[in-house]
Amino acid sequence: MKIDGTPYRSIWPVATGEAVRIIDQTRLPHEFLTVDLVSLEDAATAIRDMWVRGAPLIGATAAYGMGLALHRDASDAALEKAYATLIATRPTAVNLRWALDALRNRLMPLAPGERAAAAWQQAGEICEEDVAVNHAIGGHALTIIRKIAARKPAGEPVNILTHCNAGWLATVDWGTATSPMYQAHDAGVPVHVFVDETRPRNQGAGLTAWELGRHGVPHTLVVDNAGGHLMQHGLVDMVIVGTDRTTATGDVCNKIGTYLKALAAHDNGVPFYVALPSSTIDWTVSDGLREIPIEERSGREVTHLQGRTEDGRIETILITPETTPAANPAFDVTPARLVTGLITERGICAASADGLAGLFPERAAAA
Ligand code: MRU
Repeated sequence: MKIDGTPYRSIWPVATGEAVRIIDQTRLPHEFLTVDLVSLEDAATAIRDMWVRGAPLIGATAAYGMGLALHRDASDAALEKAYATLIATRPTAVNLRWALDALRNRLMPLAPGERAAAAWQQAGEICEEDVAVNHAIGGHALTIIRKIAARKPAGEPVNILTHCNAGWLATVDWGTATSPMYQAHDAGVPVHVFVDETRPRNQGAGLTAWELGRHGVPHTLVVDNAGGHLMQHGLVDMVIVGTDRTTATGDVCNKIGTYLKALAAHDNGVPFYVALPSSTIDWTVSDGLREIPIEERSGREVTHLQGRTEDGRIETILITPETTPAANPAFDVTPARLVTGLITERGICAASADGLAGLFPERAAAA
């Protein structure tokens, strides 16, 4: 998408096999900084420390990380080490495993001398596919937005609430939840987005607000606790969120707080949609609450806040008593029964085993 008129992606190769460039998302929205990843260790650090984040971008970065590793050593042992290093970086987003499995399956049968180039090419293909898939997701969701717009007084925007950042920064381009927002806006369908700040890391305040603003999409930042109130007062027409892992039965794991938004939407009759590429479906899992590993992050993300001082320094400050213990589960699971529909690259389906199997019969049959 565009930053002040210039098109960008969240990741792009700069030297075949040797370097891939990313945007350091820990510096946004205060500083736009790109970083070149040149080794397996760089790629693993970028994912683990959340310079890059969001399920699809984690997968894409891991794919390039495999290419960087094999550029130096393409032996079987190096391939397995790269797989093990990258898979251990973050536990919840299943796109990481999806991308690494795809690479390992294609690369292992090749002669070592062919692997680095093949890995680099496959990483590029994963990125291109991600862009196409997210564009398709946006197109399907746009039909829902148009229907809601048709029921509203002419010119009144469709109010969409979103949580965390399922934007182009979380993917390679377009985003999942944001793709329909960009497509509606670009097509002249008036939309307005309520952006949840998304404590503790504030991906909504720092990333979603930044990218929507840079592209010119009208939006308003709200604290995480405001969603229920907005819905009670008829101010939200629909919710669209992303997901880090969706089960074969339609349970949706996403950033902590998503479940509460789904409950409020259910109570107020607000449609609650989840936008996802099929790479985010975990066909091996049917019970989201019990089977999806929930990342537990440092309590420091809860007790401290990062921001920019008046004189332009990026600082981290303590907001609690020094000894306050904090828990920090990073994701939660929204049961399928609270989800109005899953918006995928193949269309929209019910959040259920039948719904997903209807759109992806070959994947459901293979599982
Ligand atoms: O911890 P993060 O920032 O990686 O979490 C990201 C999310 O929860 C997104 O909503 C999800 O990955 C969907 S991204 C298209």
